[in-house]
Amino acid sequence: MSAYEIKKDVHWVGAVDWDRRNFHGYSLSPKGTTYNAFLIKDQKNTIIDTVEDRFAGTLLCNVSQVMEPSKVDYIVVNHVEPDHSGALPRLIEACKPEKVFCSVMGEKAIKEYYGADGWPLQVVKTGDSLCIGSRTLHFLETRMLHWPDSMMTYVAEDKLLISSDAFGQNYASSERFADEVDQAELMRQVSRYYANIVLPYSSVTLKILEEVGKLKWDVDMIAPDHGLVWRGAGVGTVLEAYRRFAEQKPTNQAVVFYDTMWRSTERMAHAVADGLAASGTSVRIMSLKSDHHSDVMSEVFESGAVLAGSATHNNGVLPLVAAMLTYMKGLRPMNKVAAAFGSYGWSGEALKHVTEMLQGMHFDVIEGVRAKNRPTHEQLKACVELGATVAKALQAKIASS
Ligand SMILES: Cc1cc2nc3c(=O)[nH]c(=O)nc-3n(C[C@H](O)[C@H](O)[C@H](O)COP(=O)(O)O)c2cc1C
Ligand SMILES: [Fe+2]
Ligand SMILES: [Fe+2]
Repeated sequence: MSAYEIKKDVHWVGAVDWDRRNFHGYSLSPKGTTYNAFLIKDQKNTIIDTVEDRFAGTLLCNVSQVMEPSKVDYIVVNHVEPDHSGALPRLIEACKPEKVFCSVMGEKAIKEYYGADGWPLQVVKTGDSLCIGSRTLHFLETRMLHWPDSMMTYVAEDKLLISSDAFGQNYASSERFADEVDQAELMRQVSRYYANIVLPYSSVTLKILEEVGKLKWDVDMIAPDHGLVWRGAGVGTVLEAYRRFAEQKPTNQAVVFYDTMWRSTERMAHAVADGLAASGTSVRIMSLKSDHHSDVMSEVFESGAVLAGSATHNNGVLPLVAAMLTYMKGLRPMNKVAAAFGSYGWSGEALKHVTEMLQGMHFDVIEGVRAKNRPTHEQLKACVELGATVAKALQAKIASS
């Protein structure tokens, strides 16, 4: 995509990665992604953030549509993760900037990644501002949202917050603004991004939302580093969504995920789901063989209850279940009701292991159900009851939260 002016003299100069399906190697990105970079024309022409190294040519081409790269004076690095800094060495070579601004942690990371020999790095901190002519840039460090070096840049005169990875979505599009695309799809991608990337930093997110509120910045546009730019009512929509995401209040939805060898555990999964649905809780049933762990995680994030099923395998749990639970634990979801279930042949340890893993995530864990070989009619009834018990516990939790 060509350079695009998002505000007078503020140009998007990033890259659209239409073909990206696997984001950072662990999370699916079915709609592709973008790496957003911005060029501000002022007395000091300033670029904020770059793109992945393989799109360095695209970035330079887009910059050239606005001005000669050699006319760029400043570069601001909000975040050093390679999807935003990969093109930095080539950009510095082409622009020979007077200064490269970054956070304290950013300086360390830039040196670790790129050596940065002779680069004119200058550290900025929260509260620092930088005059670039008719505009002033204000910096806000957002440590651990989601890397130690992360920061945001607020362009006061344009009421524009360039927010790095926060508020982003993996969404390749020919449009640049959030209000120009399908809203339901957009919000699904916002939620998926939060669930798989930002979730562990929910308490930091709440703190930063509070800080941004206290700074009384007048924001009418939020430009994240991935996906579409929020403007007008969209600014409130995404801020409100992030508050809701970070608070993790339970919702009346459950996800039942499982893996199975001979389908006994699968039968149990369906019985558990029947019990949940009959008690008024919306359910998603996900087979870990069919659904990628990041898709399951998106549903876990949207759900107030998690039911995990595994057959016993070599005295433990099946590998896809172990992988899912490990992935989920790392993302630190909170405030959920949970239970385990599964079939076994002789020793039956899976139920205990899965239950312990769910307890380790500080969920409200309800005693699960296991069935030897094929579940009997009675055991399937116990699974239905388990679903009903979880639904009731969840509804009580929602009422008291
Ligand atoms: C390779 C393999 C290893 C197994 N290891 C155990 C085990 O250690 N303990 C146990 O109770 N059952 C074990 N089983 C038996 C399964 O747990 C049992 O067949 C169960 O009913 C399968 O449930 P499913 O129909 O959901 O696959 C094993 C089965 C296979 C094929
Ligand atoms: Fe990042
Ligand atoms: Fe990123």
